[in-house]
Amino acid sequence: MEKPLIYISRKIPSQLLEPYQTQYQFRMWDEEEVPVPRETLLDEVKKADGLVSMLSDKIDEQLLLAAPQLKVVANLAVGYDNIDVSAAKHRGVVVTNTPDVLTETTADLGFALLMATARRIIEANNYIKKNQWENWGPFLLAGSDIHHKTIGIVGMGRIGEAVARRAKGFGMSILYHNRTRKKDAEKMLDAQYAGFDELLQKADFVVSVVPLTDETRKIFNKNAFEKMKDSAIFINISRGATVDESALVEALKTKQIRAAGLDVFEEEPIDGTHPLMELDNVVCLPHIGSSSVETRTNMIELCLDNVDRVIQRKEPVTPI
Ligand code: DGY
Repeated sequence: MEKPLIYISRKIPSQLLEPYQTQYQFRMWDEEEVPVPRETLLDEVKKADGLVSMLSDKIDEQLLLAAPQLKVVANLAVGYDNIDVSAAKHRGVVVTNTPDVLTETTADLGFALLMATARRIIEANNYIKKNQWENWGPFLLAGSDIHHKTIGIVGMGRIGEAVARRAKGFGMSILYHNRTRKKDAEKMLDAQYAGFDELLQKADFVVSVVPLTDETRKIFNKNAFEKMKDSAIFINISRGATVDESALVEALKTKQIRAAGLDVFEEEPIDGTHPLMELDNVVCLPHIGSSSVETRTNMIELCLDNVDRVIQRKEPVTPI
């Protein structure tokens, strides 16, 4: 009997496949930083039993139709807004994601972005490297304090809580907004629940950790930026589409808010000529929230484990 076929839509280290080589045939897109073209993906899934997908792959009705043998889609991300989960469910295809293994790494990056933005680390680094440092001045590259300020976390899931733990270490007051109250987090982290508008009005740092859904699309819009303090710093480590980017550009240009730290964008990769790139008070990262070698390895292993379990007719570890 032919071994089941697993397609992996980006080049991953081949040693991670070794434990499974006797059971499965693997096919893999051969590029690490270039996504598989849609046509190639549609062709590759024709005979696939399992698919390891990236957040840049659209897993929709068309793809599911092209893949009659497909049993499982294991998305290499905790977010799964790239997948039509109900269409998959309808066709009996199990969808899995990678929660937990990336929580702390993503929160580290969120906090690094917050600190880099508040303390103008990138500007300061460029200042020296461009040989501009000639004198010292009392307010040279003066940023904003982080300690004892108020952080407002929008989306108090696992990553939101991990960001809150870091904020507590900095003596910050913690506000959060979430669909449901998190009584444990309130008790353990002294976090206070706030309505969305109240959080926007009170927070010195507004951090978006909210999953992208129909309700959260563009929640950070003109109206939201108008409610924030003019000293507020906006951080986004969730999905770019939670933000109206033109409203953000306007808010930054007109000093309605002080700065922004962004790991995610409405369109990725964002164009280097995008108006956001012209602003000194913006720190940008190319969606590297969970990108440490350890965590990305764990995420890949979790995807392969999920695929294996579903094909062996067992419960996956992290179904959606
Ligand atoms: C996720 O897992 O959703 C992250 O955005 C990937 O880094």
